[in-house]
Amino acid sequence: MNVIIVSNYESMSEEVAKIVTGQIANKPNSVLGLATGGSPVGVYKLLQESYSRGVDFSQLTTFNLDEYVGLGEDHPQSYRHYMEEHLFSKVNVKKENTHIPNGVVQDLQAECYRYEELIKRAGGIDLQLLGIGTNGHIGFNEPGTEFGSTTQVVDLAQSTIKDNARYFASLDEVPTQALSMGIKSIMQARNIVLMANGGSKAHAIFAAVKGPVTPDVPASVLQLHPSVTFVVDQAAGSKL
Ligand code: GLP
Repeated sequence: MNVIIVSNYESMSEEVAKIVTGQIANKPNSVLGLATGGSPVGVYKLLQESYSRGVDFSQLTTFNLDEYVGLGEDHPQSYRHYMEEHLFSKVNVKKENTHIPNGVVQDLQAECYRYEELIKRAGGIDLQLLGIGTNGHIGFNEPGTEFGSTTQVVDLAQSTIKDNARYFASLDEVPTQALSMGIKSIMQARNIVLMANGGSKAHAIFAAVKGPVTPDVPASVLQLHPSVTFVVDQAAGSKL
């Protein structure tokens, strides 16, 4: 595991954006695994800039980690909406090559199988971006999630609902379930980059990097992956 500690959010975003554009340069038809939340907003901004400088997104395929159950693409807090706003509508990625679990289908279980199958058919993920929850979750894989899990319907932890309430008008509006790629789906990516900033992530980063490998801290499983880079700012890395 490679841990890079940088001074602030801007440097974290630059470091991660560099890794992504490097991946695209090496393999223009890469399969990228994408994350949402506050952490990658700066990365997506820089990727938009790289597009205006000539980086070509047209051959990429993307898979997002997760989506809220019950929020369709028109909902401003759905992850599909987030991705359109922060990246997809700003670069030349083909809409049909962008994948996000659909949280408004009738049969959620079938959607999970379909999603997992799509990743397989695309040849697996070359580079997976991750954020981390304050409780150590990756994607929406909350503490206790089995390491063997694939894309599934998950119940959000109370702490996650509270953390994410800042994006909604009130706590009651935060969905209580999501569809999320599983731990196994994430671990099958060939390369993984986890980014984190701010003191609220310091404990989770310490537990993920230096703690025991345990389902109690889902991100700790990354210690078992052969190609993982953590890019954290000083505050998030302060306990390392
Ligand atoms: C959300 C997402 C995760 C994300 C995490 C941290 O719940 N499902 O993929 O990494 O929480 O979010 P943020 O970057 O806003 O702190």
